[in-house]
Parts: sequence; structure tokens; C-alpha cells
Amino acid sequence: MLELAGLAKRYGEVVALDGAGVVARPGRIVGFLGPNGAGKTTAMRSVFGLVALDAGTVAWNGRQVDAAARLRFGYMPEQRGLYPKMRVGAQVAWLGRLRGMSRTDAARSTEAWLERLGLDGRSNDRVEALSHGNQQRAQLAASLVHDPDLLVLDEPFSGLDPMGVDAMSEVIRGRAAEGATVIFSSHQLDLVQDICQDVAIIDRGRIVAAGTIDDVRGTAPSRRLEVSFTDPSVRWDPPNARLIRDRNGLRIYMVPRDADPAAYLTGAMAAGVVSGFAFEAPRLSEVFREAVGR
Ligand SMILES: Nc1ncnc2c1ncn2[C@@H]1O[C@H](COP(=O)(O)OP(=O)(O)O)[C@@H](O)[C@H]1O
Ligand SMILES: [Mg+2]
Repeated sequence: MLELAGLAKRYGEVVALDGAGVVARPGRIVGFLGPNGAGKTTAMRSVFGLVALDAGTVAWNGRQVDAAARLRFGYMPEQRGLYPKMRVGAQVAWLGRLRGMSRTDAARSTEAWLERLGLDGRSNDRVEALSHGNQQRAQLAASLVHDPDLLVLDEPFSGLDPMGVDAMSEVIRGRAAEGATVIFSSHQLDLVQDICQDVAIIDRGRIVAAGTIDDVRGTAPSRRLEVSFTDPSVRWDPPNARLIRDRNGLRIYMVPRDADPAAYLTGAMAAGVVSGFAFEAPRLSEVFREAVGR
């Protein structure tokens, strides 16, 4: 189990971390979510001793993280760390060697991961010759080559197309299913809702919501009401509802969590011909906006 607690870090006037903490458990995937500048990268870097924290603890299985523990960690940094001129396979294998693998094991594992990530055949290409998505996969292979117990991925989905996101999430899920502890960051809150079981949402260096996705969404003060009418110009003013979007005939409202969906449906049907209706827990981006009041 990875436990970050009470993390604090200032850069001059800028407060990067202001008491944030997050816990990641074996076999589970934590989404560490929040807008740009919230402190995600700083917190993740602290796991690898790359940030001199002002306060806070970083523990793995109850002990302060040290260099020996880090050999069993895999890290995909936000500023991708591969050497552009070096060949993909050689580089991944070399990173495995740095984490203590034998030459044979590193070569075998490199080959297996490149194949699993769809990079077989690219092993002898230089990193700089790969597309953005393939560089991302090579970076993932580099963080996985030594089969780490803890996987820390900083914005692994950024810049990937939908197929790339699916491929990346499948690998992440696979590692968690094999018992690894996984934490990844993302500034795209709704993109990752189906990928992780647990979330910690950070804003300005503080955690504003944390728990299982279902808890965080389910205990939010509002529900999300979606309505569309066959005729988009229908006038309907539902009670106790805040309109958050009205686009292409689809209206989305936030309503109190104890509101009665049937009453809204009845009201909508009285206003016009309803072509779509949904009443559900808010999305993570909506939970976030409500929690921080912006
Ligand atoms: N090395 C640094 N020097 C100065 N400011 C920094 C440094 N690293 C991060 N920051 C600042 O700390 C805040 C948090 O940054 P970061 O952890 O990168 O957030 P996130 O990854 O959530 O986007 C930002 O305001 C950022 O500009
Ligand atoms: Mg970041």
C-alpha cells in the first residue's frame, strides 16, 4: 500500500501542495485527478524523491520509501524521460537493468512488453521516430519492464486518441488485476471515470474529494438530470434545478440529490414531447466543480 500524507511544498509564493494525501492499495487503480497546476505531478515526483517536501510522509507498506523500495516501483513521468536518439528496445532493456534485472530477463521482458503494447517491430527504431502515441507506449513499457509492485503514471492518457486510451487502460487494468498497486494522474476527470475504482480529487494542493468512484459520485449533494425534447425550443423551467448545459437540444441540470425523478419526468412530459431522459449521479468533473464552487 502506498500512503502519501500531509504533503506540503511551496515554490516561493506558489503553493504546490497544501496538506494533500492519497492512499493506493494493491490490486486497485487510483485516479489522481484535478485541473492543471493542482499539484498532481509534484505529489507523484515526491514518491521518487524528486521533490524536497516541506512536510509530509511517503510510505510503502508502512515504511518510509527509500531507494531499495523504489527499485520495485515503475514511473511514467509527465515530462517523458526517454532519450530521443536511443533505440526503443535497447532503452527499455537498459532501464530494466538499472532496476536490477539480469541481461536475459531484461531482454525477455522488453520483448514481451513491446509486443503486448503493439510496438513489436519498432524495437530498433529511435524513440524520436515514433508517433506521440507510440512514444507514450514505449514510456509505459519502460515503466513496466521490471514488473513493478507499484505503478505511478503521470498523465498517461494525455494526447492519446480513443483507441490509445483503451489500449493504455487495458494494460493498467491488467497490472492491477495481477496485484500491482496503480496510481495515475489526469486533468481530464470524465475521461477516466471508468478506468479507476478509487479517486482522489485535488485542487490547489488540497484533496477536495476521495474514496471509491461510486462513493464520491453517490454522496455528492446533487444529481444530474438530462432531458431532451423532440422540439428543442420547448420551454421548461424545472424547479430547484440549475441548468449547466444546453446544447444540440440536450439540457443538463443539477438537481438536489433527494429530488424525485418521476416528478421531473412528469413535468417535462407536460411541457413537450420528451425524446430523452436520464437521472443519475454527477460526473467527476461536476463533483469537482461543486466541491470547489467554481
Ligand atoms: N519546479 C517548480 N518550480 C516552481 N513552481 C513549480 C515547480 N513545480 C511545480 N510548480 C508549481 O506548482 C504548482 C503545482 O504544479 P504541478 O504539481 O505540476 O501540478 P499538476 O501536475 O497538477 O498540473 C503549479 O502552480 C506549478 O506551476
Ligand atoms: Mg502534472
